[in-house]
Amino acid sequence: MTYADVRQRWRQDPEAFWAEAAAGIDWVEPWTSVLDATQGAGRWFPGARLNTCYNAIDRHADGGRGDQPALLFESTMTGRQESYTYSELRTTVARLAGAMQRSGVEPGDRVLIYMPMVPEAAFAILACARIGAVHSVVFGGFAAREVATRIDDATPKLIISASCGLEPGRKVFYKPLLDDAIDLASHTPERHVVLQREEQAAELNRDIDLEWHEFQDGAEPADCVPVAATDPLYLLYTSGTTGQPKGIVRDNGGHAVALHWSMKAIYDIDAGDTFWAASDIGWVVGHSYIIYAPLLRGATTVMFEGKPVGTPDAGVFWRIIERHRVKALFTAPTAIRAIRREDPDGEFVKASDLSHFTGLFVAGERCDPPTLKWAGEQLGVPVIDHWWQTETGWSVAGNTLGAGLVDIRPGSAGKPMPGWDVQVVDPEGQPVPAGDTGAIVVRLPLGPGALAGLWQAEERFQQAYLTTFPGYYETGDAGYLDEDGYLYVMTRTDDIINVAGHRLSTGAIEEVIALHPAVAECAVTGIKDKLKGQLPMGFICTQADSSANPQTLIDECVALVRQHVGAVAAFKRAVVVKRLPKTRSGKILRGTLAKIADGEPYSVPATIDDPEILNEISTQLGHPGNTNDG
Ligand code: COA
Ligand code: AMP
Repeated sequence: MTYADVRQRWRQDPEAFWAEAAAGIDWVEPWTSVLDATQGAGRWFPGARLNTCYNAIDRHADGGRGDQPALLFESTMTGRQESYTYSELRTTVARLAGAMQRSGVEPGDRVLIYMPMVPEAAFAILACARIGAVHSVVFGGFAAREVATRIDDATPKLIISASCGLEPGRKVFYKPLLDDAIDLASHTPERHVVLQREEQAAELNRDIDLEWHEFQDGAEPADCVPVAATDPLYLLYTSGTTGQPKGIVRDNGGHAVALHWSMKAIYDIDAGDTFWAASDIGWVVGHSYIIYAPLLRGATTVMFEGKPVGTPDAGVFWRIIERHRVKALFTAPTAIRAIRREDPDGEFVKASDLSHFTGLFVAGERCDPPTLKWAGEQLGVPVIDHWWQTETGWSVAGNTLGAGLVDIRPGSAGKPMPGWDVQVVDPEGQPVPAGDTGAIVVRLPLGPGALAGLWQAEERFQQAYLTTFPGYYETGDAGYLDEDGYLYVMTRTDDIINVAGHRLSTGAIEEVIALHPAVAECAVTGIKDKLKGQLPMGFICTQADSSANPQTLIDECVALVRQHVGAVAAFKRAVVVKRLPKTRSGKILRGTLAKIADGEPYSVPATIDDPEILNEISTQLGHPGNTNDG
C-alpha cells in the first residue's frame, strides 16, 4: 500500500473509508449514518454508542493483553519509574471512576484536571471517560487567572489536582494556585481532590478539599458507561486571539476512530509496540498521543516528567528509547533544537542502542530544515514533521510511516491526510496557484476527530472558524502547497504565537500588561528565537502623567504576566515606546513591530497613520533604517 492508495480510497468514498476504519473500535450500538454533514463542521457516527475508556483499556485487558504494560512512567525529576499493565490500569481507573460517581459526578458533568506529568493524571482522564464525564485538563504552566477563566467556562463539578509539580530548580505549588483560581472564579466546584506528592504535600484547608486516597477509600469500581458517539469526551481550552480561551469540544466516536487509525497508518504502531509522545497532558498532543491513541491501539505508552536537556543531560530521550524499546517518538522541534545545542555531534545518540527505533515525529511548530536534517543524520530514521492543531485533534498533514512513506521534504509538513481536503486560498476564498502563499483552509465537512464545536459558544465557533471562507474551516495558519501537493505551514494569520511548541495568545498577554496602572496601551508580538522558535516581546506605552522608570515598569509587567498567565508564556522582553504604530483605522501593526524587533527589513504600510514612529522604534531597538520602501 502507498500513501497515494490510502488518499485515493478516502477521496473516492470518505464515508466508506471511515466506516471501514471504525471496525477497529468496539461499539455498543451501531451508527445510524456514518456522517451527518449538516451539523457544525460534520458529526461522525450519529446514533452509535460506545465507551472510549473501554476501547482504551478493558478490551485489551480482556483480550489477552492484561499483563502487557499499558503505561510506563519515567520521571527524571524524582527518579520514579513505574509500569502499569492493562489489568492494573483498569483496576486503578475503575476505582477512581467509582469514587467520582460516588461523589455525584454524572455523565456530561465536567471535571477539571490541573496536574503535573504523573500517572495519576492519566488515571483521572481515563476515569472521566469511563463514566461519561467530560474532562478538561489545564496545562500546569498556566497561572491562577487562566485556571479561573477555564473554571468559569467549563463549570466543573470536581477538580482534580496535585500538591506540586517539579520544574528544574523549583517546585510549582498547584494547591495555592488553584485556591486563588477558585477565589477568582464565579463558579465554585463541589469537590477538590488533591494528590499529595511526597516531594511536597499541600495543606488541605477548605471544606471541599479531599486527599486523593481518602477520596477513593472504599469506592466500588465503576463499569464503563456507554455514551453517544457524538457526546463530548473532553474540553480542551486553547488560545484564541483574545484573553478568553476557546473550549474545544471533542466527541467520543469520531475521535476514537481517527486516533486508532492514525496510530498505525501515520506512526506505524501496532498493539504491543511502545510509543512515546514527549509532550504534556495539558496539550492536545498529550491527550491524543500520550493517552488515547496508543491505548486505543493496545500499545504501550510512555509518560515522562522531565525535560529533553538538563534532567540530567541531553541523552535522556535516547536512554528512555533504548530502555523501553520505544518504536517511535513524538516531540516538539524545540526539544530537538535544545538537544542539538547540548550535543551537536550526537555523542549521546551514539551511546544508546536505538536499533528498534523507526521514526521521529515532530509537531507543535514548524520544524526548521537544519533541525530536521540533523535529527535524521543522527538517528538514521525518518524524521517526520506533521501539522495539526488542538482543534483538529490529529494531523491534517503529515506522512504515513505505516502505510507507505512519501518523500520527506524538509520545511514541509508533508501531505494532507485522509479526512482533510486542504486548500490554500486568497482573501476572497479562491484557491491560489501551487507555490503561492495564502490562508490554509479545509473544505467542510471535517474528518472524524476534529472539533465538534466550542463549549457553549456556537456563535463564536461559527465566527472563528466557519465564516471567513464559507464552506471551509479556517485554520488560522498560512502557507502554500507545492506542485506535488506538499504543504508548507509558514505562519499564523492571527495573534497567536508558538513559544517552544506552546500555543499562546498575544492578546491574553496584552490584557494582563494593560492591568498595570502606568500602562496606557501595549502590543505583544512574537519575535524569532533560536531555541524556542518564537518569544513574546512587549511594546508598552505609558500613561501621559506616568513618571514610572521604564526598566521598573518592564520588570513589573514581566512579573504580572508570570503571575497571571503563567511561566510558560516566557514573557521576559519588553520595551517602553512613545506610541504604537497603527493603521488609520486604529489596528496595531504587530507584524511590522515583529520585523523591526527581529532586525528584518520592513515595509511602511500605506495605511499607517504616523510613519515616523516606525523609524523611532527601529532606532530604539538598534536597527535604524531597515525599511525597504522608504
Ligand atoms: N508546570 C509549571 N511550569 C511549567 C510547566 C509546567 N507543566 N512547563 C513549563 N513551565 C515553566 C518552566 O519552568 C519555565 O519557567 P521559568 O521561566 O521559571 O524557567 C517556563 O514555564 C518555560 O518553560 P519551557 O517552555 O519548558 O522552557 P524551558 O526554558 O524551561 O525549557 C526546553 C526549554 C526547550 C527544554 C523546553 O521548552 C521544552 O522541552 N520544549 C519542548 C516543548 C514541548 O514538548 N511542547 C509540547 C508541544 S508538542
Ligand atoms: P496547538 O493547537 O497548540 O497544537 O497549536 C497549533 C498551531 O501550532 C498550528 O495552528 C500551527 O500554527 C502550529 N503548528 C503545529 N504543528 C505545526 C507544524 N508541523 N508546522 C508548522 N506549524 C505547526
